[in-house]
Amino acid sequence: MSQSVAQHRTAPPAVNGGRLLRRVEKLGNIGRDAATGGITREGFSPADREARAYVVEEARAAGLAVSVDAAGNIIVRARPAGTTAERPALLMGSHLDTVVGGGRLDGAYGVLAALEVVQACAESGGHGRYEPMAVAFTNEEGALFPQPFFGSSVLVGRLSDLPREPLDHEGRSLRGPLAQAGGDLDALGSAVWLPESVAAYLEIHVEQGPVLERTGNRIGVVDGITGRTVLTVEIRGTAGHAGTTPMTGRRDALAAAARAVTVVEHLAGTRDLCRVATVGRLDIHPNSPNTIADTVRLTADLRDTVVARMHAAESALCEELREVARQTGTEIEVVARTHSGPVSTSPELRALIEENCLELGVPYRSLPSGAGHDAQVVADITPVAMIFVPSIGGVSHVPLEDTAPADLVVGAEVLLRTALKAAHIPTR
Ligand code: GLV
Ligand code: MN
Ligand code: MN
Repeated sequence: MSQSVAQHRTAPPAVNGGRLLRRVEKLGNIGRDAATGGITREGFSPADREARAYVVEEARAAGLAVSVDAAGNIIVRARPAGTTAERPALLMGSHLDTVVGGGRLDGAYGVLAALEVVQACAESGGHGRYEPMAVAFTNEEGALFPQPFFGSSVLVGRLSDLPREPLDHEGRSLRGPLAQAGGDLDALGSAVWLPESVAAYLEIHVEQGPVLERTGNRIGVVDGITGRTVLTVEIRGTAGHAGTTPMTGRRDALAAAARAVTVVEHLAGTRDLCRVATVGRLDIHPNSPNTIADTVRLTADLRDTVVARMHAAESALCEELREVARQTGTEIEVVARTHSGPVSTSPELRALIEENCLELGVPYRSLPSGAGHDAQVVADITPVAMIFVPSIGGVSHVPLEDTAPADLVVGAEVLLRTALKAAHIPTR
């Protein structure tokens, strides 16, 4: 080969593991509680804004173009902002927001690995059939504003599923916090993508469960993602003095809530109507030791892989809540509801992931995801795939959540190779 050809040939894109791990470390310090090590970066909180600014800065410093859509989603690509897309996107990403006291990898790893892949592709100057793009979706967890998957729902056009004026758990409007994140509640339609603009969506994530570790595998190829319904239930009673109000005739919203919590637990337990059911949040008013509560809001999170079972569990819950209201003299109302259906991932993309694991000599297995992910929403408009890396001890949504650094790097390598191969095959 002549010298001049060799000089013009671009090297194949490669993951820079050190750069990825440094970013994981840096991002993992944002919103971190020094005492517990837990990360609290609720969507639209100041810590979430800081994390977003960090990712934007890193992407810009890498010479990449960054845009923020009306839903606050951060989109990173090599092509300068304002230029017209000539190829459908090969979208990769996850979310930067966390639960309260969560880990540093849930979501963040997927965004940083996607950024690494886009940067590696840009550095190598390669051109495929699709344009690699990284996305950080807004408010996936729904910790503060109970509209989980907010950013991905807007991107796929599920606007009618979202409340017109989303409120947080304390009734504050999303309008201001969304504007602070660079979004615009009145222009959400401008953030909707057409199916033809995207060829596929790849999301890499920590497993958040014990399967890979227990079976000695380093990569999980996700075959399906569980469906999830989240209801916000408001229970209204009458406040009163804890010492002087007779027990008969009380309308104690917290006592009613206690029954409601048990009802939710039994949906998945004794009644086996859905796979899991959880009340993870209670907001009690006035939350005073010697005052009967007049209002309680609770969240009920119901999950199953079968849509009919999710519907059955939700109907049973509503029926039981009517009974609780009757017995306790309270009013009970479902004030917000989000639903994301179970989805299957693309067999073609799964085969590519497996092929890459074989090439790299990395042990892998397929498995379902019991956690929710933006991928299940993006599946509305394009084929999706998910790559899991092992979670040490199988834990997540807690400060101890962790993954071996070598696994984080191998995962990103699998993501890169999958993106490169996907760039040369039709995905649908
Ligand atoms: C998302 O983190 C979920 O709750 O599954
Ligand atoms: Mn999570
Ligand atoms: Mn996540």
